[in-house]
Amino acid sequence: MPTTDVPPITLSASVPRQLDALVVGLAEASDAEILIGLPEDVAKSLSKTTGLEPIALARRFGASAKPGRTALLAGPAGLRVVVVGVGPIDVTPEQVRRAVGAAVRLVAGLPASAPQVVAISLETAEPQVIKGAAEGALLGAYSYRPATGEAAGISQLVLVSPSRKPEARQALDLAATTAKAVNTARDWVNTPANLLYPESFADDARQLARGAKIGIELWDDKALERDGFGGILAVGGGSHRKPRLLKLSYAPRGARFHLALIGKGITFDAGGLDLKTADGMYTMKCDMAGAAAILAAVTAIAELGLRIRVTAWAAMAENMPSGTAFRPSDVLTMYGGKTVENGNSDAEGRLVMADALAKASEEKPDLVLDVATLTGACMVALGERVAGLMARDDQTADLVLDAAEAAGEQFWQLPIPEDARPKLESKVADLKSTGDKYGGALTAAAFLSEFVPTDIPWGHLDIAGPAFNSGAAYDYTPSGGTGAAVRTLIALAHALAN
Ligand code: BES
Ligand code: MN
Ligand code: ZN
Repeated sequence: MPTTDVPPITLSASVPRQLDALVVGLAEASDAEILIGLPEDVAKSLSKTTGLEPIALARRFGASAKPGRTALLAGPAGLRVVVVGVGPIDVTPEQVRRAVGAAVRLVAGLPASAPQVVAISLETAEPQVIKGAAEGALLGAYSYRPATGEAAGISQLVLVSPSRKPEARQALDLAATTAKAVNTARDWVNTPANLLYPESFADDARQLARGAKIGIELWDDKALERDGFGGILAVGGGSHRKPRLLKLSYAPRGARFHLALIGKGITFDAGGLDLKTADGMYTMKCDMAGAAAILAAVTAIAELGLRIRVTAWAAMAENMPSGTAFRPSDVLTMYGGKTVENGNSDAEGRLVMADALAKASEEKPDLVLDVATLTGACMVALGERVAGLMARDDQTADLVLDAAEAAGEQFWQLPIPEDARPKLESKVADLKSTGDKYGGALTAAAFLSEFVPTDIPWGHLDIAGPAFNSGAAYDYTPSGGTGAAVRTLIALAHALAN
């Protein structure tokens, strides 16, 4: 897979002349809807050809201030004018990210004879809003294009803003690096599991990291056996595609904080011998989204040159049923020596994560965060668009929630209640991998917690819901892989860097 690139995005004080599409906003003020960002000459031309005020014309074509609602108008000289609803006029960055995402996604999907130059004109001046607009545009322009795919739909994006401050340009650069990382994670998730498997995934990530100042260490199946990674080996044992553990280290001079990120990289989750149903299995190429998120994030953090040490650990395996698959009731010796009774071969994520968490903790990082499409139970609790966050202390939880808020991603804290751990008692091992049928997201967290020493702050992000959109695209979110958690991880690194 080639490295994902985003179209170039630039700032401009006025709407450029050479343009295929122009995005303007329709916002809700106290008692009226107002058009924002429509230049005088385009407004005049629209009125002249239709005899209507631009806002009346936009309404006739279905526009409203309703967030994400779009209407397409024919402007002068073939210019496509997209009017997008942004909601209340005092916009938040996420409101703008969503609106611009919806508008640019519409343009990217229109038939065109050549790649499109698109300007976004929303009178945005505040750096955080500029960042939101730019991310929305770059995320909305995304589509998964397998190697044989057609040419890119959008060749150039221009953000119209009156701001000349250096902060505006910085916001744009940060947005471009962030969006590129999100789109990289999306591409990985979207690549089908016959084309993306532990070995190829690791090769791809190594190639991506090679462009940045990142140290690379890779455990193949032999090395995993030598070092005793019993969880990763058991889960990967049912597949011909052998498991891998990939470590990417970014350690800039002068960094004071060490963040360890651990990602679930199940390239396909068939459920193992506890085979999934056809419906449940269909989207399971997405089960490496946690690994995709941490690998894309650490690369972006390195590209941005943030002063924070970040070590990313991706535990990669394919969970398949076969004569060499691990069995329900097997007792595994995990990295570090703890024994685990396998309660269900479809609860494979926590096993590969346990090994990687134990290994990552040896370096005594200041914070350990893991990201995983871990449980269907988390989706039952929070739905498809909200990720679960679990932590042993509220300071860690707040750190992640604040970063998510700043990044415009939805996380909700779930508890790790005291009755969760007793459910994991085993008669034949130190602990069992599964609990009972209640609170599955919470028992999974309680299990993971056993593999991080209690003196290291630890948080767990269950992205089973938001990692993959099995429905239609909306706002800046495409169907398929979404790149969930990437923006939050980059924002967190920003907050923790010195
Ligand atoms: N990868 C799944 C969780 C998942 C489900 C992610 C749906 C995304 C969408 C995970 O490995 C799994 O199968 N979990 C089981 C655990 C159970 C067997 C204890 C689940 O949630 O049903
Ligand atoms: Mn599973
Ligand atoms: Zn899984």
